[in-house]
Amino acid sequence: MIQKIDNATVREAVQQAYERCKNETGGKNADYIPYLANVPSNLFGIAACLPDGEVIAVGDTDYKFGIESVSKVPTAILAMNQYSAQEMLDKIGADATGLPFNSIMAILLENDHPSTPLVNAGAISACSMVKPVGDSDGKWKSIVGFIEGLAGSQVEVIDELYKSETATNFNNKSIAWLLKNYNRIYDDPDMSLDIYTRQCSIGVTAKQLATMAATIANGGVNPVTKQPVFKPELAPKIASLMATVGFYEHTGDWLFTTGLPAKTGVGGGIMGVVPGVMGVAAFAPPLDEAGNSVKAQKALAYVAGHLNLNIFGTTRCVMAEKEPAKA
Ligand code: DON
Repeated sequence: MIQKIDNATVREAVQQAYERCKNETGGKNADYIPYLANVPSNLFGIAACLPDGEVIAVGDTDYKFGIESVSKVPTAILAMNQYSAQEMLDKIGADATGLPFNSIMAILLENDHPSTPLVNAGAISACSMVKPVGDSDGKWKSIVGFIEGLAGSQVEVIDELYKSETATNFNNKSIAWLLKNYNRIYDDPDMSLDIYTRQCSIGVTAKQLATMAATIANGGVNPVTKQPVFKPELAPKIASLMATVGFYEHTGDWLFTTGLPAKTGVGGGIMGVVPGVMGVAAFAPPLDEAGNSVKAQKALAYVAGHLNLNIFGTTRCVMAEKEPAKA
């Protein structure tokens, strides 16, 4: 069955989700990175980006927070776009680990590849694969340019966050060098880790995350700028990776509950992709024990349930065609 929705229906669902979830107090800010512990815990915003480029936004949707692990999504797409989906599958893989995002055990268990570009090991490996653009700091320029293409606007590193992450990323250092041990990193491990740490420290807004998600939902064409950003055949590849591991060891629970491919970050952001329909995002800093925002999960689960966004559902939600303007 097809269920047609229009922009007004989405606006209403986003507003209702905000009202229902704004008083949720569960979870705790990430504190293993000192900067994140000090972000105001009461910030909360929800955004959706629709195929015509309308960005619906309620709450703190202009606040710049650390993109953190949501950055694993653009870098995975970039690596696939520069090489191919098959090469990323061969070099990194597409399996869920069922383990925490920074698991060393996952690398030891599956030492022939780092599992998926959406956990730390695979993401550091993906950073090592990225081909540079320009002359100096080319890999970094390549990643930032790609994220800006997806978001349709400029992004920059939150310097204090980058310093805070760099001073405390001992576990990730072990991951980078363990990958080297298994020949699963494709450039210098320290440099690849630095690129990964910098990309996690990029500041984004919920509006930007929703637009990034909408670009994926729209087959690689940004619905706001109308610019093509990546090859359309990669959209289902990245959505499948998000569906299988986007919430780490809680991914099954999330997918069972909502049927929405999504990716979280310890900054409190979550970005969800409804293939062919829209991008949604929510932001609230307090996290559950797996590192996923409690309030953002509730908000997006409400929107997904209310609008029938479950990709496994028998009712397919599509955006209604707009009435042509009367002459
Ligand atoms: O690697 C880290 O520890 C962070 N910079 C990113 C982790 C993260 O966001 C995990 N996701 N929920």
